[in-house]
Parts: sequence; C-alpha cells; structure tokens
Amino acid sequence: MDWGMKNRLAQIIKGDGKCMFLPIDHGYFQGPTRMLEKPGETIAPLIEFADALFVTRGVLRSCIDTRNTPPIILRVSGGSSVIGQALENETITTSIEECLRLNVQAVGMSIFVGSDYEFQSLSNLGKLVNECERYGIPVMAVTAVGKELEKRDARYLGLCCRIAAEIGAKVVKTYWCEDFDKVVDGCPVPVVMAGGPKCETELDAFNFVHDGMSKGAIGLNLGRNIWQHQYPVPMMKALRAIVHDDASVADAREIFETEKSK
Ligand code: 5RP
Repeated sequence: MDWGMKNRLAQIIKGDGKCMFLPIDHGYFQGPTRMLEKPGETIAPLIEFADALFVTRGVLRSCIDTRNTPPIILRVSGGSSVIGQALENETITTSIEECLRLNVQAVGMSIFVGSDYEFQSLSNLGKLVNECERYGIPVMAVTAVGKELEKRDARYLGLCCRIAAEIGAKVVKTYWCEDFDKVVDGCPVPVVMAGGPKCETELDAFNFVHDGMSKGAIGLNLGRNIWQHQYPVPMMKALRAIVHDDASVADAREIFETEKSK
C-alpha cells in the first residue's frame, strides 16, 4: 500500500485500530431528516468526539468549518430519493477531482446486493475503486438494504460485505445482526457498524455495539442513534468508550448517566 493510502486510512482509523465515524449523509436521499435539518448545528457539540464525518459535498461545503473538522469520508453515490421509484438506482455523483479538491480522507458509496440494481451498484464500486486507487483514496462500501430492513441477517450481510471487499473496498460498513462474527469472519477488510433507525433505548444501542465489537467490528458509523437521541453527547461519549476503551455495557451506561446529569 502506498504512503498516501496508508496515511489517509491512519487518519480515519485510529492508532488502536478502532474508529468512530459520525454519519450525517442521510439527506442525500431522505431530505431534511429529523434532527439533521441543520447539520452544522446538530454536529457542533459532537464533532470533537468523532474520528471522521461521513457527509456529502453539499453539506460539507455549506455546513462544515474548514478549520474545525475531523477527517472527511465523502458520500459519493446518490441519484434516488425516498419518494422515488427505486432507492437502489444510484450512480456516482461526485468526481475524483472533487474528492481531491475537498481534501477528503476517504469516500463512501452504497451497494445494493440482490436488488434489481445489483450489477449497477457493484460495477459503480469497481469503477470508484479503480479511480481512487490511482490517487490513494480509500473506499468505504456501504451495504445498503433500501427500505427492506428485514434483510439484515448474517447470511445476507456476510455476502454483501465479502463482495464489497472482493471488489476492492478498504472498509465495509454494514448493519449489526445476530451472529455478527459470521459477517466479520468472512470479510477480509475491516467492518464498521451502522445503526439504522433509532433503537428504543440507549441500552439496546450499547448492547448491539458491544456485541459487534466483541465479534470483530473495528468501530461504528452510527448516526440516528446518536443525533436523534435526546442526549446526543452522552450517547457519543458512552459509545466511544465501548469502541476505544473496551468499556462494558454497564460502563457505557454509567458514562451515559453521568454525562446526562451534567
Ligand atoms: C445513510 C447511511 C448512513 O451513513 C448509515 O446508515 C449510518 O447511519 P445510521 O446509524 O443512522 O443508520 O449510509 O445513507
């Protein structure tokens, strides 16, 4: 691996091999998602605890201060909306020149394995990896399920993650599921977990994050469970402790309660 690629990866994955990405890219197909109507305001108190932000170029340019930002993972796929015909029908929306101009540390795009647009999204991933390898930019593949949340089981997600890695993703973002070790064990590159719709309680989030970390995930790309929570900073700190400090679920709960009462 060349120096540039290694250096970019080292900026988003910390020295302990773990990472806590904060995704705020949801608007690219959902519009003004609840609590993300003004992304700059939502993330202002959270930014110091994030190892990287996952964001589109539009929000990056309009809402993120150039002098106060963690490393950037740029969301570069899109083209469909939540009210359109098919969420899976995506293209690459952002050129490699834009990624370089914006000085991003990585890029991310969705793949839709098993959908009508499987071939399209997987060949998009191949083309993006080809371009990004030329300039030393890591690609994070997002194993998206569109509106079919019930698809999230180890067999399906394991298939998606492995395919993403085979095509050249340097990191794969997927959902936590039962038997998560099967997903991680079949994927030769690091796996990070997304949250999906907000869990009912913070304990549910701590439990799945702790389970996923103990089964080999290297970290999180967790959005709604943090910034849609009533106490986003305590959530961020508690989850960060699970990711970076091997905190137990009980430790995380204690951190959450302590931070909440401040
Ligand atoms: C949405 C995404 C998000 O980055 C991903 O789903 C993580 O966010 P959340 O934890 O809210 O699901 O890819 O397009």
